[in-house]
Parts: sequence; C-alpha cells; structure tokens
Amino acid sequence: MELIINGQRYTVADEPTRPLLYVLRDELGLTGTKFGCGAGICGACTVHVNGKATRSCQTMVHTLAGSTITTIEGLGNAERLHPVQQAFLELQVPQCGWCMSGQMMTAATLLAETPNPTYDEMIAAMRYNYCRCGSYARIARAVMRAAE
Ligand code: FES
Repeated sequence: MELIINGQRYTVADEPTRPLLYVLRDELGLTGTKFGCGAGICGACTVHVNGKATRSCQTMVHTLAGSTITTIEGLGNAERLHPVQQAFLELQVPQCGWCMSGQMMTAATLLAETPNPTYDEMIAAMRYNYCRCGSYARIARAVMRAAE
C-alpha cells in the first residue's frame, strides 16, 4: 500500500497489526516521532493524519490508505520552521526532548484549528501530551507565543 508522508510517496506492507509508529521509525527512518508508552496515553508518538493530531502507536497502518501523514520532519522545512517549532526553539523548551515532537504536532493542530486560542483552550488541547521532565510551563509559553 502507498502512504503519503511529508509530501513523499512510500510503499509499505499492508499489515493489519502494524502500528504506523513502527513503520515510521523502523522502516522509513523518520525517527523524530517517538515511542513513549505504546498505549495511546503519553502523546510522544503524535503525528498528523489528514491534519488531525493522531497517536501513531495506536493507528494501524492498513487503515491509512489514501491518507496524508505529516511527521515532525515535515512540519516545517529547511528554509522556514513551523511557528510552533520556532517558538519551542526560541524559548528553549526541551529538556530531555523525548516528548517534544508529539507536543509540537499537537500544538500545530490546535493552532491550525484555533489560531488564537485562549490560555484555557491551549491547556485543554495540550493536556494529554505528557512531559516526564515537567516542562509544562515552557511548553505553554511556547504554544501561546506561536499563536501570536
Ligand atoms: Fe503513543 Fe504514548 S507512544 S501515546
């Protein structure tokens, strides 16, 4: 089956029990998407499927024929970071960094749907992306800065 990921076509095996996360990381080398819990809880594996923040550890690849997928590698480009990436960089948000791609993918979806969120809307959108370093204050500031 074919997947369109970050604007490129890839041919991958149509396996009913293979999560997108494993295909991205192990077959396609797109290792910016992280394995955290593997159970749909932490958000480290978040990518965009047809523009929606999606947990790639819980999304079987065979359900994605014809879908457009974006990973952190395709969120911005070499000339211009996505505003969320730029804000995370400027505010030096990452500590260990493991959850950051998932955080940024969720934030990018929020801002695509709600370009000027209130603080409460931002917190509600980001609340299921966990950070084991506890960098929540910087994450919150960066998402609000990206919305400016
Ligand atoms: Fe997918 Fe934690 S690794 S939600």
